[in-house]
Amino acid sequence: MAGQGVLSGKVALVTGAAGEIGAATIKLLAERGARIVAVDRDADGLKRATQALPASAEVLPIVADVTREDEVAAYVQRTVERMGGLHIFFNNAGIEGDITPITDYPLETFRRVLDVNVVGVFLGMKYVIPVMRRQDGGSIINTASIAGMIGSPLIAVYSASKHAVIGLTKSAAAECSDTKVRINCICPGLIESRMLRSIIDGRNSGTPVPLEKIVDRVPARRLGLASEVAAVVGFLGSDDASYVSGSSYPVDGGRTTT
Ligand SMILES: NC(=O)c1ccc[n+]([C@@H]2O[C@H](COP(=O)([O-])OP(=O)(O)OC[C@H]3O[C@@H](n4cnc5c(N)ncnc54)[C@H](O)[C@@H]3O)[C@@H](O)[C@H]2O)c1
Repeated sequence: MAGQGVLSGKVALVTGAAGEIGAATIKLLAERGARIVAVDRDADGLKRATQALPASAEVLPIVADVTREDEVAAYVQRTVERMGGLHIFFNNAGIEGDITPITDYPLETFRRVLDVNVVGVFLGMKYVIPVMRRQDGGSIINTASIAGMIGSPLIAVYSASKHAVIGLTKSAAAECSDTKVRINCICPGLIESRMLRSIIDGRNSGTPVPLEKIVDRVPARRLGLASEVAAVVGFLGSDDASYVSGSSYPVDGGRTTT
C-alpha cells in the first residue's frame, strides 16, 4: 500500500491513533499511500488499530503520552530517524473530561483536560514545526471540535480547551506564514463514537436518548462517521490544500450553521 496513491512518499504521524477518529485516519492515510507513525498512550488500543491496517502498509507504532515533553520530543525524533522526514502531522489526541456543571467541576480534571487537549497540541507543534521548516514544508492538522466554536453546557472545560486549539492553530499558522508549513484544524461535530456516547450519557444521567433527539439540531439529520473526519484530514494533509492555512474546518453536518 505504501508507495501508491496521492500521499505516496509522505510520512504521516497521528496522535490518538488508537481512538476512533485516529484509527479511521491512519487507515485512510495508509490507503492513500502514506507511511504511518501511530502514537497513543494506550498500547493495547494502538496494537488493535495498527493490526487493522492493510498488510502492505508501513507503520511505526509508538506508545507515548502527549503531555510529556520528553516523550513528544522522542516520538518526533524516532519518526525522523526511522522514516527520514515528517510531512503530515495529525495532532489529534484528546479527552472529554468530566460531564458536569462548572460549579461541580473538579480542578484536578480541569487541569488534566487542558494538559492533554492544549499542552499536548502545543508540544506536538513545538517539536514538529522545526522538522517541517528544515525539510521546507509540511501540513499540521490539529483536532479542535465544534465545542471550540460554540458554548457547550456541562463540558465547559472541554469547550475551553478546544477554543484554545483554534487559537493555537491560527497563531502557529501566522508564525509559519513565511514557510511552506501549513497549519489548520478540524472541528468535528457529533461523530458516532465512544466520546460522543460518553458526553450524551453524562448529560442525561445514563438514560438512553433516542437518536432522533440527538440529531434534532443537526441539519444532516444524522451522526457523522470517523471516516468522514478522516477524509477532511486526508485533504488538508495533501498538496490539494496547498493554499490552505490557519483555517478551522467544521465536519459537523451543518450543526454550526445556525
Ligand atoms: N468523537 C467525537 O464526537 C468528537 C467530536 C469533536 C472532537 N473530537 C476530538 O477528536 C479527537 C479524537 O477523538 P475520538 O472520538 O477518536 O476519541 P477517543 O477517545 O476514541 O480517542 C482519543 C485517543 O487519544 C488517546 N489519548 C488520550 N490522552 C492521551 C495522552 N495523554 N497521550 C497520548 N494519547 C492520548 C486515547 O488513548 C485515545 O486512543 C479528540 O481530540 C476529540 O476531542 C471528537
